Amino acid sequence: MAKQGYIISIFGTKGGVGKSIISLNLGIDIARETGSQVALIDLDLSLNGDLEMLLGMTSSKSLAELIPLLDSIDGSMLRSFLSTHSSGLTLIPALRDHREISLITEKVSRQFLSLCARTFDYTVIDCGSSFTPVSMATLDCSNLILLISQADFLSLHQTVKTLSYLRIHHFPKEKIEVILNNVHPKIKKDDRTINSTLRRPVLELLPSSPDTVGTSIIRREPFVLSAPRSLLSRKVGEVTLQCLKKLPKLPNIDFRISRTEVASPTAVDTRPHMDAATDSDTKKLQVSEREDLINQIKKSIHESLIDRLDLRKLDVETGSDPEKAKR
Ligand SMILES: Nc1ncnc2c1ncn2[C@@H]1O[C@H](COP(=O)(O)OP(=O)(O)O)[C@@H](O)[C@H]1O
Ligand SMILES: [Mg+2]
Repeated sequence: MAKQGYIISIFGTKGGVGKSIISLNLGIDIARETGSQVALIDLDLSLNGDLEMLLGMTSSKSLAELIPLLDSIDGSMLRSFLSTHSSGLTLIPALRDHREISLITEKVSRQFLSLCARTFDYTVIDCGSSFTPVSMATLDCSNLILLISQADFLSLHQTVKTLSYLRIHHFPKEKIEVILNNVHPKIKKDDRTINSTLRRPVLELLPSSPDTVGTSIIRREPFVLSAPRSLLSRKVGEVTLQCLKKLPKLPNIDFRISRTEVASPTAVDTRPHMDAATDSDTKKLQVSEREDLINQIKKSIHESLIDRLDLRKLDVETGSDPEKAKR
């Protein structure tokens, strides 16, 4: 049977939460921990180029340049077009010139990820922060999706919305994990506010470490290599171990068109080879999406009423005594 490596996507709808930094350091840490071939793909199409800058190296070919060869090359030919960092990581930017953006389609993404899975033991993807047909196809082709957020209310709220969007689009819950980055080192995983907002456990909290991150950016040296004993590097190490433990238990990927995209109206519009899905199939999915959405709205109204009741109860218990309220 052909080799099928694992694909891990790093995603999150907020910018500046650490997706690129985590993708890079996680990729290197997986290569170090497993001693295997790891590819890191910069698929953040809006701001491509961060990873080459953070790693201080230029990859030999971008995905856009490889497109004409995708039908004819195998894993060893792919490798011959790419340069590998001393850490064992092979970095592949999607494009170098923003005018190439229209070349990166869902079909290209699926075809390229399938080739990567046959070539590398692990492929880590910086998926950026937008829901587009390409990012949806990429997430669909991933064994594991790591959603990156911060611990502030707005970031958590966006993550809740992202989780619900992925659920509506039929992404299995077990292949999604949430990581909170740049958090105060005293915040713990069982924090009440975080857990009541997300309503699911967090895989890991990565501490705010401006010195470690700042130095690594200036020196263009990923912190898992330059500061392996820092708290941040050790926490990334824990993410690596948890991912390695979880990946073999997750289902294999089907790189062909999936139900996820059939359910996405934008994807339907842009896919000529989607004729197999009939109008009635599409309508049925749209109706079930609407029902999902209505149930979701009902649920959040119900939950916000419960939250308010809890707050009133707190008022009654503490009265107007500010000292009591602090306890
Ligand atoms: N754990 C952290 N501690 C301190 N600063 C961080 C941490 N993670 C990220 N940052 C800061 O956040 C900035 C944005 O990170 P980046 O990976 O580019 O985010 P994204 O890819 O989500 O837009 C970085 O330049 C860095 O200064
Ligand atoms: Mg980024």
